[in-house]
Amino acid sequence: MFNFTFNIPTIIYFGKGQIKALGQELGKRAKKILIVIGRESVKKYGIFDDVVREVKKAEVSFVELSGVKPNPRLKSVYEGIEICRKEKVGFILAVGGGSVIDASKAIAAGVRYEGDVWDFFTKGVACTDALPVGTVLTLAATGSEMNRHAVITKEDTRRKLAFSSNSVKPVFSILDPEYTYSVNKYHTAAGVADIMSHVFEEYFSQPPSAAVQDRIAEALLKVCIHYGPVVCKKPRGYEARANILWAGSLALNGLLGEGKCGDWASHAIEHEVSAVYDISHGAGLAIIVPNWMKSVLNKGTLNKFVEYGVNVWGIEKKKRETEIARAAIDKTRDFFSSLGLPSRLSEVGITGEHFGDMAKNTIESLGEIGTFKKLSGKDIVEILNMSL
Ligand code: NZQ
Ligand code: ZN
Repeated sequence: MFNFTFNIPTIIYFGKGQIKALGQELGKRAKKILIVIGRESVKKYGIFDDVVREVKKAEVSFVELSGVKPNPRLKSVYEGIEICRKEKVGFILAVGGGSVIDASKAIAAGVRYEGDVWDFFTKGVACTDALPVGTVLTLAATGSEMNRHAVITKEDTRRKLAFSSNSVKPVFSILDPEYTYSVNKYHTAAGVADIMSHVFEEYFSQPPSAAVQDRIAEALLKVCIHYGPVVCKKPRGYEARANILWAGSLALNGLLGEGKCGDWASHAIEHEVSAVYDISHGAGLAIIVPNWMKSVLNKGTLNKFVEYGVNVWGIEKKKRETEIARAAIDKTRDFFSSLGLPSRLSEVGITGEHFGDMAKNTIESLGEIGTFKKLSGKDIVEILNMSL
């Protein structure tokens, strides 16, 4: 296990009715806030009303930025920064899924930076100061509610890039499983695939074993395998929604990744796919991840796939190792398909014409990707072609 510093300052209010904590959290932090929301869901399903009621009770005034799209755009970030500066906003409240939270984090970073906020994503400029951010989460997927990352797309150049900073870790997040009841089957399933993929990125990594992290990782995967189909079939089941929601936060809050050097190749490839084709991130991962697994399976990585097959899928230890590894990958593919997610890029209208450029862009921004197995531009094209 490598050395690490583990610091999660986010206060989590988890469970039914926890929105009641919002007023006290805001009241002590700001007089005026920016509420950031997506296109329609939070207003349509009454979550926005709950938020505004608590904000008013706390006698905090607010301005609003709405219309943040999935795969959030830099344009919304610029808009938010302008509002914050003009209105002298002291706090940002994200009410939504990962896209809304990521846009809010980028706004928070941009407000206190004199240059262009895109510098954080492209020039490696370190973000050391930001407006505080809090979240009311409405979709289980990204873990953004409890982590230091934000992913934004620049529309004109079709680049989707991430930046990370401790300054944008949410100071609090309210996680009420009932707020996720209205998420449709497709986005629920995509969220489960995203959560599992975050676990895979930390599990299949360097060093290949860190027992504490790996056993927690396997537990989270089993929770997703058990409750994923339940939340897709019965969207208003509290226990299942609660377990998936909490698994999502734990999968990418640092817990599994500390002491290891995560792989993140599947994410790098998927970000390129959703940058160019604007598909849902979790659906993209459901297509890419099993093909990434096939592509990196070799003598050196075999043991880890066997561990995964036996501990997570309960495949018999007695079988040949290569058989266990292949069966584990097939089970992963079949599981995503059973949730109704696509298994091929062609199913979501993607053709291979941009694959060369996409691989080139990835390598230009990140260099060779992957730690479990390093991937070159040629390898990326190969995985994309396997996924067609
Ligand atoms: O736009 P609205 O109307 O709000 O609808 C959203 C959107 O269409 C809808 N939705 C959200 N909450 C809902 C709901 N519909 C009904 N009821 C509710 N309660 O769901 C759709 C998808 O929302 P989005 O926020 O885009 O989904 P998700 O949470 O999966 O976020 C995806 C984004 O996060 C990035 C992805 O790349 C993508 O851009 N990621 C961020 C990470 C991070 N910050 O750590 C890590 C991830 O790996 C990921 O890259
Ligand atoms: Zn993800």
